[in-house]
Order: sequence, then C-alpha cells, then structure tokens
Amino acid sequence: MLDARLQAVADFVPHDCSVADIGTDHAYLAIELYRANENRKVIAADLNAGPCEAARRTIREAGFEDNIEVRQGDGLSPLTPSEVETVCIAGMGGKLEADILEASPNVFAKLKCVVLQPQNGQEYLRQWLYEHDWHIEDEQLVKAEGRLYQIIKAAPGTAPMPLEAELILGPVLLKKQPELFREYVQSNIDVLSKIAVELQRGGANTLDKLQEYQRRIKLLEEYLS
Ligand SMILES: C[S@@+](CC[C@H](N)C(=O)[O-])C[C@H]1O[C@@H](n2cnc3c(N)ncnc32)[C@H](O)[C@@H]1O
Repeated sequence: MLDARLQAVADFVPHDCSVADIGTDHAYLAIELYRANENRKVIAADLNAGPCEAARRTIREAGFEDNIEVRQGDGLSPLTPSEVETVCIAGMGGKLEADILEASPNVFAKLKCVVLQPQNGQEYLRQWLYEHDWHIEDEQLVKAEGRLYQIIKAAPGTAPMPLEAELILGPVLLKKQPELFREYVQSNIDVLSKIAVELQRGGANTLDKLQEYQRRIKLLEEYLS
C-alpha cells in the first residue's frame, strides 16, 4: 500500500491514460498505477542504476515484470513523443521537476497531463507551468509522517498567470482551502519567518531581503484571518 503522498499522486493520474513515473526509485507508484488499470501502459524510469535495479526487483516481486518496463535515463529522455499521455514526477525539488520538463520539449509537447509532487520550489514550478502555456487543473494537500506535501495536476492550455499568493500557496488550494490549509499557510509563514530572523542579524547588508521576506509574511498572514 502506498503512503498518503504517493497515493495522492496516483489519484490525480487520469484512469485511462498511459503513464510514466519519472524518478521512480522503488517503483511503488508505477506498480500502483498499473494495479489501478491493468490495461494501460506504465513505464518506470530513473536516472540512476541503483533505483532502476530496485524498481526491477519490486516489479518482479509484484509479478508485473512483463507489464511495467523499467528504463534508465535522465528525465523524459527515455521516452519518445506520444509514447505516454501522462508523466508523474514526485519527490524532487520543484526547480528540478521544471528542468526535467523543459529539457525534453518534444516529449513534453505531446503530454496531456503531468502530476507533480515537488519537495520545495513550488512557486517556481507553478510559474514555470504558466509561462510554458500550461495551467494547474487541480491540487491536493496531504500529510505523511508529520510533513505536508503539495500535489499538482497540470494540463496544456494557456491561462492568466496566477497572482503572487496563488503561486506561493497554489491557485486551487487557495480556492478550495482544504482541511489542512491553515496549517499549510502557517508552515509557509514559519519557513519565511526563520529566514527573516537570520536576515535580521545581517543588519543593513540584508535589509532589502529582510523587507521582502516581511512583505511576503504579511501577504500570507492575510489567509489566516
Ligand atoms: C527522492 S527519490 C523519489 C522517489 C519517488 N519518486 C518518490 O516520490 O518516492 C528521487 C529519485 O529521482 C531520481 N532522479 C533524480 N534526478 C533524476 C532525473 N534527472 N531523471 C530521472 N530520475 C531522477 C533519483 O535517482 C531517485 O531515485
């Protein structure tokens, strides 16, 4: 059984779509995606040999070695254009996830959906999607082992660039304000506040940066009231 984080990623993958799990590591997500629909094509890909070996082992143990192909390579490079309709990238930094999509424009251009679970850099990733004529269709917040995670489902199609608070917190999360929303906003504020305390020690040298962090903290605090 998947943990809440990977289950939320799996839940966002359209049931009928073929899918590749990029950075699959142990292939737990790829296996769940295949179990959810045994008629679809599932590819498990990873940059490194060790994770590919682990993926092959887990897939063999699950009895799916003839159904889920493991490919070693960087980002989307193990895929050919139109080979899959959906790509999942989970557990990496948001900047790396955007870089992976950007590095293979021919594959990216043919996708119908991407499901992303960035560990950090969410604002950068959201902005990148809108700058590349994609938009966010849905978002989910989950808690696993005491940590909050954001899951982003995006699709091709131009849409207006979200406002700053929407890029930071997520346009759909802001709209839906799910159960964990207040805790999530507070945790964002806590991260910014910690940096602001460090910047305060820098005195005049870091004043501009400090003011920018204080402005952002104020912006997010509006969503707690
Ligand atoms: C922290 S693990 C995440 C595993 C799994 N996706 C999850 O969310 O539990 C990151 C995995 O991504 C792989 N990886 C890192 N950079 C990659 C890239 N450019 N292309 C494909 N895989 C990559 C690593 O080898 C590692 O197996």
